[in-house]
Amino acid sequence: MTRHFLRDDDVTPEEQAEILALAAEVKSAPFAHRPLDGPRGVGVIFDKNSTRTRFSFEMGIAQLGGHAVVVDGTTTQLGRDETIEDTGRVLSRFVDAVVWRTFGQDRLDAMASSATIPIVNALSDSFHPCQVLADLQTIIERKGRTAGLSMTYLGDGANNMAHSLALGGVTAGMHVTISAPSGFEPAAEVVEATEARAALTGGSLRVVTDPVAAVTGADVLVTDTWTSMGQEGDGKDRHAPFLPYQINDALLAHADPAAIVLHCLPAHRGEEITDSVLDGPASVVLDEAENRLHAQKALLIWLLGQR
Ligand code: CP
Ligand code: NVA
Repeated sequence: MTRHFLRDDDVTPEEQAEILALAAEVKSAPFAHRPLDGPRGVGVIFDKNSTRTRFSFEMGIAQLGGHAVVVDGTTTQLGRDETIEDTGRVLSRFVDAVVWRTFGQDRLDAMASSATIPIVNALSDSFHPCQVLADLQTIIERKGRTAGLSMTYLGDGANNMAHSLALGGVTAGMHVTISAPSGFEPAAEVVEATEARAALTGGSLRVVTDPVAAVTGADVLVTDTWTSMGQEGDGKDRHAPFLPYQINDALLAHADPAAIVLHCLPAHRGEEITDSVLDGPASVVLDEAENRLHAQKALLIWLLGQR
C-alpha cells in the first residue's frame, strides 16, 4: 500500500520514532543512503513561497541520489484547472514521490487519492508535518527525549504549526499546551485527533488562554507568525489580540530555566518573538532549520521503503 504523509497522524507513534531515529542516522552520515539512485525523480511543487522547504527538499533529494523537479504550481497545468486527480495519476508515471506546498488540505487528499506514489505535505493551511519532524529531532538532540516533556506553543492556535505541533507532539508522547487569543483556538477535529493520539502515547493536549499559565515550567516554547501565508486579507485583527503571546524575556522567565525556544521561521522579529529571545541562548532555531534537511531525507527513505 502506498503511504502518504499529509498530516502528523499519518504515521503511528512507533513509525514516527523510527523516522526520527533514521533522521539522526542520516545527519551523522549524510551520503550513506541512496534510495533515489538512477537518478529517480521527486516532484516538488510550491503554490506558496518558501526558503527552507525549497532548499532542504532539493538538496536532500540530490543527496539521496535523486533529481528534484521543483516547480511553481501556477506554472503547471494545475494553474489552468487540470484536475488534481489527473495530475496525481500523470506524475505517478514520472517520479517516485511528490512533495507539495499548497492551500487546502483537501487538495493534498485529492492528489493522494489518485497517485500511486507517496505524497508529502510540504505545508498546507491546516498542517506542516515535515516541520514538526525537524522540531522533534531538535528537541531530542537538546533534551535526549520527547516523551513526558512539556511543550507550549503561543500564537495563532488554529494555524498549520499549532495543529501539527499538537498532533505530532502528542504522537511523540509530549504534553502540549496551545495558548492563543479567543477565536484562534485549534480546530475541533484536530483536538479530537490529538486526544486519540494521547490515549495511545500518554501525551496530552491543553488549550489555555493565559500565556503566563501556559508557559510556566515548560521545557519547550514555540511560536510562529500571527499571519500565515494566505491569511493576509482575512479581515481578522492579527496584531492587538496577539501581543500578550509574544515570546520575550519576561515570558521566557516563567518557563523551565533550561527551556529551549523553537520557531519554524521566517520570524517576524518584534512581533511573535523578540530579537533578544530569537538570538539568545535558549533559541535553537538554526539547528531546527537545518534539521529540515535530515528529517525530510529520513521521511523520504522511510516512505520509499514502504512500497
Ligand atoms: N519553516 C518553513 O517551512 O520555511 P519556508 O517557508 O521558508 O519553507
Ligand atoms: N504558519 C506559517 C508557517 C510558515 C513556514 C505559514 O503558513 O505562513
